[in-house]
Amino acid sequence: MQAGGRLNLLLIGFGHVARAFVRLLIPRRADIEAASGLATRVVGIATARHGCALVPDGIDDARAIALAEGYLGVSSIHALAGDPPRDAFALLDGAARQAWQGPLVAIETTTLDPRRGEPATGHIVRALAAGAHVVTANKGPIACAWDVVRQAAGRADRHVLFESTVMDGIPVFGLVRDTLPGVRVTALRGIVNATTNYVLGEMEEGRELGASLAEMQARGIAEADPLFDLEGWDAAAKAAALANVLMGAAITPESVRRCGITHLTAADVRGALDSGWRLKLVMRVTGEAGRVSASVGPERVHATDVLAQVHGTMCALTISTDLLGDVTIVQHGGSVAETAYGVLADLITLSRRL
Ligand SMILES: NC(=O)c1ccc[n+]([C@@H]2O[C@H](COP(=O)([O-])OP(=O)(O)OC[C@H]3O[C@@H](n4cnc5c(N)ncnc54)[C@H](OP(=O)(O)O)[C@@H]3O)[C@@H](O)[C@H]2O)c1
Repeated sequence: MQAGGRLNLLLIGFGHVARAFVRLLIPRRADIEAASGLATRVVGIATARHGCALVPDGIDDARAIALAEGYLGVSSIHALAGDPPRDAFALLDGAARQAWQGPLVAIETTTLDPRRGEPATGHIVRALAAGAHVVTANKGPIACAWDVVRQAAGRADRHVLFESTVMDGIPVFGLVRDTLPGVRVTALRGIVNATTNYVLGEMEEGRELGASLAEMQARGIAEADPLFDLEGWDAAAKAAALANVLMGAAITPESVRRCGITHLTAADVRGALDSGWRLKLVMRVTGEAGRVSASVGPERVHATDVLAQVHGTMCALTISTDLLGDVTIVQHGGSVAETAYGVLADLITLSRRL
């Protein structure tokens, strides 16, 4: 990126992840700029129920968080003539009409829709058409409409980065893209949903599902609709995103064979443990481009299996390759702060590409 260039950020969605990202940014802006050259300012926010605002000169981040978390919402800080944008699409259209100093970037963190990937896919396509690059933590578009997203990015000559869609800030996609040149990914196996892994671990201790799920909701780790975690939709969306990007597949979460954990009781989980096994929600992807299949479901994992050591909110993914065998990447505990870091890491990657 040119010296002095600054990324103008449009936050499409301003919930747990986007606010954690802004909280991460506030005290570190100067350090990040000195270390990586990344300079940013937030110039727009769109939410579903907490208003929208476009502020071309830059938003006071701390005030925006306070407004979004209070009763007022963010519309009161809209700084252009006329009414605040009514939704994310109007905000993106408004942004397209402004003359920006520096690149425009939409950060898409709206609620997951694992069946259709909407409205996030629509937001991304509209952002690209508006001339913005895109960073997203929302796996829906990558899982449900990867081709649409990729083609729209190509047409617009803009970048789309999505590292925080799987295992938060752990560089799963970047690991393959940047450090495993020439390898073919032949299979994937892992635990990729922190909420269900935590819940199953607590069930081993005799705690029933409801209490530990409430804890995951309070920590902002569970999906807005926690059934997407419990019924395996989140893991299925991650399977599809990984398969599409790393294995050249064209699958969707609906084509992933899926079974959740809602039917399991603490007695089932403890029974497995007493026999030397752990019950884990395991994601698998196998096959070659054009014939890739994926599944998500509870499996008995032997105590000697690397996945048996994945406790609490940890996640792990084994990437099988033709030239390097199996590479396993372990995340020692996920949180929204790590997802927020994934967003920041994508912005730094983007600024290096510009
Ligand atoms: N939480 C995590 O640990 C984590 C980790 C990795 C990835 N993710 C992904 O990151 C995304 C955001 O997660 P989150 O935990 O931040 O969710 P969240 O707290 O529920 O926030 C979602 C935000 O999106 C807004 N929104 C929903 N529909 C919208 C629409 N049609 N137009 C504009 N804004 C809309 C909501 O508006 P209101 O504020 O008005 O409701 C809210 O601000 C999800 O796709 C999730 O799968 C989350």
